[in-house]
Amino acid sequence: MLRHLHALAQQRRERLQNTARSTLFFNLWQEPGTMIALDPAARAHVTLIDHPLVQHKLTLMRKKEASTSSFRRLLNELASLMVYEVCRDLPMQEVQIETPLETMTSKVIDGKKLVFASILRAGNGILDGMLSVVPGARVGHIGLYRDPKTLQAVEYYFKMPKTMEERDVIVVDPMLATGNSAAAAVERLKQCQPKSIKFLCLLTCPEGVMTMYKEHPDVPIYTAAIDRELNDHGYILPGLGDAGDRIFGTQ
Ligand code: URA
Repeated sequence: MLRHLHALAQQRRERLQNTARSTLFFNLWQEPGTMIALDPAARAHVTLIDHPLVQHKLTLMRKKEASTSSFRRLLNELASLMVYEVCRDLPMQEVQIETPLETMTSKVIDGKKLVFASILRAGNGILDGMLSVVPGARVGHIGLYRDPKTLQAVEYYFKMPKTMEERDVIVVDPMLATGNSAAAAVERLKQCQPKSIKFLCLLTCPEGVMTMYKEHPDVPIYTAAIDRELNDHGYILPGLGDAGDRIFGTQ
């Protein structure tokens, strides 16, 4: 009898904990005035990479006292861990190989080499870590700036490998903030008609996710965190500051 009562109490505790967790989650997205609500369809579009190693390294990077060299090292390590998740569903093909002992059929990634498309300049900070895991990937660059009068994204550099129609592309930028330059970069990339596009960032916020979801619902987002909100200067809060400045030591 006593055991039965203990079991009931335990079940009730777990139920309460779960309710508290979902209430917290609900409040997080609904708090009035501090952030925009994130459409569940848009949220479903985001893969949150919550592996403990990724989360641990991200916390170290966020700290304001992290030096340029440790920020870079952590970014490299994080990028190599995150690219694992982004590549999880790459198509495979079977090939016949010979081990020192036998012939066997084994798997390799199918199709032409992947393209990592970096949005300049902070995107370049993620490339090395990704290339350490996928050394054969091709690298493209997209440079955009915002015209202060029209507020439109203006292209100043665009270089991609040939035969993009046969390639899967991962667009990279550490911060998906307003989402405007990411959306413009993806728009430009679509003119090359790649086989598929994914977007990888370290951090985003509801505004960035919503912009990308509205403009490119066919482009899934991979990130290590969805932070609370954007401030009036377009910085993510709590965030990690200006990613480009922290990578290149220009602050
Ligand atoms: N770009 C950054 O580098 N940091 C932000 O918080 C937002 C955009």
